[in-house]
Amino acid sequence: MRIRSEIIGCGSYLPERVVTNAELSAKIDTTDEWIVSRTGIRQRHLAADGEFTSDLAFKAAERALEDADVPAAEVDLLILATTTPDNTFPATATKVQSRLGMVNGAAFDVQAVCSGFIYGLAIADNFIKTGQSKTIVLIGADTFSRIIDWEDRSTCVLFGDGAGAVVLRAGEGDPNANVGEKGHNRGRGILSTHLHSEGSTNDLLYVDGGPSSTQTVGHVRMVGREVYRHAVINLAAIVGEALDANGLAPEDIDWLVPHQANKRILDSTAKKLGLPEEKMVVTVDRHANTSAASIPLALDEAVRDGRIKRGHLVLMEAMGGGLTWGAGLVRW
Ligand code: ACO
Repeated sequence: MRIRSEIIGCGSYLPERVVTNAELSAKIDTTDEWIVSRTGIRQRHLAADGEFTSDLAFKAAERALEDADVPAAEVDLLILATTTPDNTFPATATKVQSRLGMVNGAAFDVQAVCSGFIYGLAIADNFIKTGQSKTIVLIGADTFSRIIDWEDRSTCVLFGDGAGAVVLRAGEGDPNANVGEKGHNRGRGILSTHLHSEGSTNDLLYVDGGPSSTQTVGHVRMVGREVYRHAVINLAAIVGEALDANGLAPEDIDWLVPHQANKRILDSTAKKLGLPEEKMVVTVDRHANTSAASIPLALDEAVRDGRIKRGHLVLMEAMGGGLTWGAGLVRW
C-alpha cells in the first residue's frame, strides 16, 4: 500500500493596507498605465508597521487548520517557505509553531524565493510518502515590502505582502485503485512534484545584502528582461515535465494555479499549454507578487469561491531567484 499526500485544508491572510498604483505614482516616477500594461498589477497589500512575516504566516496557518478541522497538536511537521524571515535565526517556522500550539514534531524554514511553496510541497510530499510525517502544515509567507528598494521603480511596483497555507495528511490507499477511462489515476492527492535550480543565474535576481556578506538586510535587485525570458522558457518546460510524468495532456488540467509574478508571464504559460484563460487562477492584479505566498493565496481563493472542486486536477508552477523553478500536480 503506497501512502499519498492529500491536501485537506487551506487558508490565507492578506494585510489590511492596500496600496494602489495611483498611490505609488504619487511617490515615484511611474504610472498606473505603465504598471498595468507591463505586469497586470493594479494594487498590492502591505504589512503594517510591527506586523511581521510570522504574523501573516500564523494567521494563514490558523485558517488552514480550521478549514481542515485538525487541531495543532496533531501536526507533526511545520514548513514555512519564506525569503523574509523575522530574524536571521531562529527559523520563523518555530515562532509560528509555538503560536499555533503545536507541541509535537519539528518546524523549519525553506528558502527558494518565489518557488518556495513548490519546494515546500515537494518536501512535505516526500516526508509523508516515507512515513516520517503524518500531518503537515505548509505555509508560504513573505513581506517583500521590507526588502524592496522603494526608490527603484523597476522593482518596487512588482511586489506585495501576504501568506497562504495548506494542511497535508497521509492518505492511505492504493493510488492505482481508482483509474479513469484514459488510464489516469483518479485518486486524491499529490501526483508528483518537480524541482529545478540553476545557480549560474544567481545574478539575475538577488538581494544585495545578507548576514555573512554585508551584515545588512539588503534590497531586491533584478535584471527584469532576463528573468522574464527565463520564466517563459522554464515554466513551459516544467509544466510539460509534470504532465509527461503522469501521462497527462494539457486538456486534462482543470486549473492552473501559477506563481503570480506578472500577468504576461501567466498568459504565456497558459498559451503554451493551449489552456483557456478561464482555467487559470489569477490574483496578481490584486495581490501583486507575494513570492512564496502567491500560490497558496490563489489556491485558497479558488477553493473558497468554489472554482476548485474535489476531483479536479490542479497544476501549480513557479519560478524565482536562484534561479529556482518547479511544479506540483494535485488531484484535489
Ligand atoms: N514605471 C515607469 N517606467 C518604468 C518602470 C516603472 N515602474 N520601471 C521601469 N521603467 C522604465 C525603465 O526605466 C525603462 O526606461 P528606459 O527605456 O528609458 O531605460 C523602460 O521602462 C523599459 O524598462 P524594461 O525593464 O526594459 O521594461 P520591461 O518591458 O522589460 O518590463 C518588467 C519590466 C515588468 C520588470 C519585466 O521585465 C518583467 O516582468 N520581468 C519579470 C520580472 C519578474 O516578474 N520578477 C519577479 C520575480 S521572478 C518571478 O517571480 C518569476
